[in-house]
Amino acid sequence: MSNIHRITVHDRAKGITHTFQVPDDRYILHSAEKQGKDLPFSCRNGACTACAVRVLSGEIHQPEAIGLSPELREKGYALLCVSYARSDIEVETQDEDEVYELQFGRFFAKGKVRAGLPLDED
Ligand code: FES
Repeated sequence: MSNIHRITVHDRAKGITHTFQVPDDRYILHSAEKQGKDLPFSCRNGACTACAVRVLSGEIHQPEAIGLSPELREKGYALLCVSYARSDIEVETQDEDEVYELQFGRFFAKGKVRAGLPLDED
């Protein structure tokens, strides 16, 4: 029989807090959806980081979180779509694209991209 854990998710963008229960053999995002909780996600397979959260307390198991670098896992980020609870857990949602930019932002130029056609150089 699986253990049940209590999950608290602070959705910072919407200013609301969700609480729900998750068995330790089910993905947290999947269980949340089944209980009518509206959490951010996109790919559902650990690749896009749309569902990334900062773990405030508790223990998460996420062996399939391929979209998250080991450094960010160590910093306490998790991908809820492929995360299992190993205890009661409290997390908060990331700022928009926070995890994506932490991982990939440094590979791109910092300047703003301008809309429209490039100007002729003459
Ligand atoms: S929804 Fe894409 S990584 Fe979780």
